Amino acid sequence: MNLPFSLERRPDEQQIGVIGAGTMGAGIAQVAAAAGHPVLLLDARPGAAADAVSRIANDLSALVGKGKIKADACAALLGRISVVDDAAQFKQAALVIEVIVEKLEVKQALLRELEAHVDPGAVIASNTSSISITALANGMRHPGRLVGMHFFNPVPIMKLVEVVSGAETSKNIADDIFELARRWGKTPVHAASTPGFIVNRIARPYYAEALALLQEQAASPEALDMLARAAGFRMGPCELMDLIGHDINYSVTVSVFEANYGDRRYVPSLVQKALVDGGRLGRKSGKGFYQGTPGRQPQAV
Ligand code: NAI
Repeated sequence: MNLPFSLERRPDEQQIGVIGAGTMGAGIAQVAAAAGHPVLLLDARPGAAADAVSRIANDLSALVGKGKIKADACAALLGRISVVDDAAQFKQAALVIEVIVEKLEVKQALLRELEAHVDPGAVIASNTSSISITALANGMRHPGRLVGMHFFNPVPIMKLVEVVSGAETSKNIADDIFELARRWGKTPVHAASTPGFIVNRIARPYYAEALALLQEQAASPEALDMLARAAGFRMGPCELMDLIGHDINYSVTVSVFEANYGDRRYVPSLVQKALVDGGRLGRKSGKGFYQGTPGRQPQAV
């Protein structure tokens, strides 16, 4: 009854699966539920999906408190998100979005396994920041149904979505996902599956130069952030990396560096590697360049 993916059906008839309930998965689940879809949220770490739902509930109740959304709308949105513990529960999903760690082999393994569970008419999307959609589709039985759907952090606030087509991605599916993102209130853009796509390619030097200045001890994180803000940026590079998560940001740099045959412009930073090795992942772990409450995200509007 929920199958297959079709823009002709109402959102409440199109179940969305989200795999990975971390920083981005929680935000994507919230946005899909806000658009009226029933959402199934799965994470490999026991309790992670339930924690994500609690984070969403906290953020939404703060908005209710500020009068930005109504309490019944908040309850309805939360009521559309269900926690599941097995990909087999995605068999009626029209669209499944993969939002797990930024590692090619891990994502490939997940996508291959996922295909055994979902309907042949279901679309599969990846929120990867930088990994080739062509490479992710390698080994899938139906590679044409894999498309990049790259949201930005924090998902409920950031409008941009890169819709990324790999070599095999069906044009109709990319166009449908573009339209779906638009219906979810986003500003989609089509992108080719080049390393880092568009935004992460452009953003690499912003992070890299800040990290180089830190390594040279030329400036503190506070000074860099203050300068960038004073120059008109919404966030400075260090606070932005704390928001993204250093593990993710570092993996993206490694992926862009390797995909460009070791181009020196994208050399990963030792400063950031030390943060990752020390578990100082940023907001999600409570400590990065700055210290704060673990997991707190800016609130949705
Ligand atoms: P995260 O580290 O906050 O969350 C990842 C979640 O995936 C964790 O809860 C983990 O337990 C779960 N997970 C790992 N392997 C799994 C598996 N095999 N099956 C099910 N769950 C699994 O990561 P985050 O930041 O949410 O990033 C996820 C993806 O989104 C990555 O591909 C990343 O590049 C991309 N992304 C991240 C952005 C950011 O600002 N953090 C922005 C845009 C895209």
